[in-house]
Amino acid sequence: MDSILVTGNGPLSGQIPIAGAKNACLTLMPATLLSEEPLTLTNAPRLSDIRTMTALLQSLGAEVTSLQNGQVLAMSSHDLNNHVADYDIVRKMRASNLVLGPMLARLGHAVVSLPGGCAIGARPMDLHIHGLEALGAEIELRDGYLHAKAPRGLKGAVVDFSFASVGATENVMMAATLAKGTTVLKNAAREPEIVDLATCLRKMGARIEGDGTSVITIEGVDRLNGATHPVVTDRIELGTYMLAPAIAGGEVECLGGRLDLVASFAAKLEQAGVTVTETGQGLKVTRKGGPIRAVDVTTEPFPGFPTDLQAQMMALLATAEGTSVLEERIFENRFMHAPELMRMGARIDVQGGTARVTGVEQLKGAPVMATDLRASVSLILAGLAAEGETVVSRVYHLDRGYEHVETKLQAVGAKIERIRG
Ligand code: EPU
Repeated sequence: MDSILVTGNGPLSGQIPIAGAKNACLTLMPATLLSEEPLTLTNAPRLSDIRTMTALLQSLGAEVTSLQNGQVLAMSSHDLNNHVADYDIVRKMRASNLVLGPMLARLGHAVVSLPGGCAIGARPMDLHIHGLEALGAEIELRDGYLHAKAPRGLKGAVVDFSFASVGATENVMMAATLAKGTTVLKNAAREPEIVDLATCLRKMGARIEGDGTSVITIEGVDRLNGATHPVVTDRIELGTYMLAPAIAGGEVECLGGRLDLVASFAAKLEQAGVTVTETGQGLKVTRKGGPIRAVDVTTEPFPGFPTDLQAQMMALLATAEGTSVLEERIFENRFMHAPELMRMGARIDVQGGTARVTGVEQLKGAPVMATDLRASVSLILAGLAAEGETVVSRVYHLDRGYEHVETKLQAVGAKIERIRG
């Protein structure tokens, strides 16, 4: 298993290109299942999670061809010949459950393994099931698999989510595009990835309004056509690299970065004493001297502070003057990085969903281990500010969500390398 060696090396300077969003791409890819015509995605990120979704779609009979070094995904679901999403693939990646809605809508039946828990929490699928049942699906759990069918087709309905789940909104929105009549999703998720999916579905002929707000209306159509769509910028990769100069000092321009994708996060960075500027080609983040100030952070659905940047923000606040309170409100178990940061000298007290982080003057390099994707990258960020060497092991998590992390950070002057294991 590979590991990453980071040596704290002072201020950073230069540019980092931001890739297309993993989480947008992972929901855009299953949208191919809705149509017999080809769907082509451009600006796709080169990540192991994308390869896992490719394998899943191929196992269902879809054709997925990776072009231009992985940045273009040409897909066709003309001849689907399997309707079972196998446990062996789903257990590797929870987002596999996003094939359920599209398969059900297109084929009238689908069998999808329940993903089970993961490092950050239990993550059930009750909201997905509730939404699809409201559209008339019959869903049963047998042998660890959800067996879903809609023998008479799906019918539009009002779905009122008890929580604005990203995945449930995506699954039910995709299914509703081919349902008979009108579906209204209330308390829908508002994340940019939902807007990106709706934009792509509209290009395919779907009739969707209200995406980006908490009420989405979908008029079902008989069939969807093909389309070509660029994947939206990855706001979590963007936020992660914005934190690199914040923690190590210096100035880095994140190319392709958009303030509207990270507004609440950027506001917290500014509050902490870091400058964020829109440049026309991206976002520039500057920290020249001066301490980081403690700030309190609560994770919330978009447009609130994203849970996917909480671990990385904790690394920054571990070096701040004063005590910050971080509240994790989306996942019940997403502080696994805290004990690892403490091995680097951070002072963190975790009580349930709240972490109190008291900044220290200097983090110290240490061997550390990552338990999930965002935790891994938070340890790399901490390593940029630490004295000495930090070795982050088990970086396969990292490769699920960050393409060429060491190359991107080397380009701005970081001392970082991958050790093949
Ligand atoms: N939830 C339920 N029941 C459901 C669905 C969700 O209780 O049926 C709960 C979850 O257990 C969790 C909360 O609702 O506590 C939020 O879950 P949500 O459904 O919104 O998240 P998701 O769709 O499973 C996506 C991202 C995550 C990101 C979350 C929150 C993808 C592929 N994944 O997950 O990304 O943290 O939204 O923004 O889009 C990551 O990239 O590292 C990552 C974990």
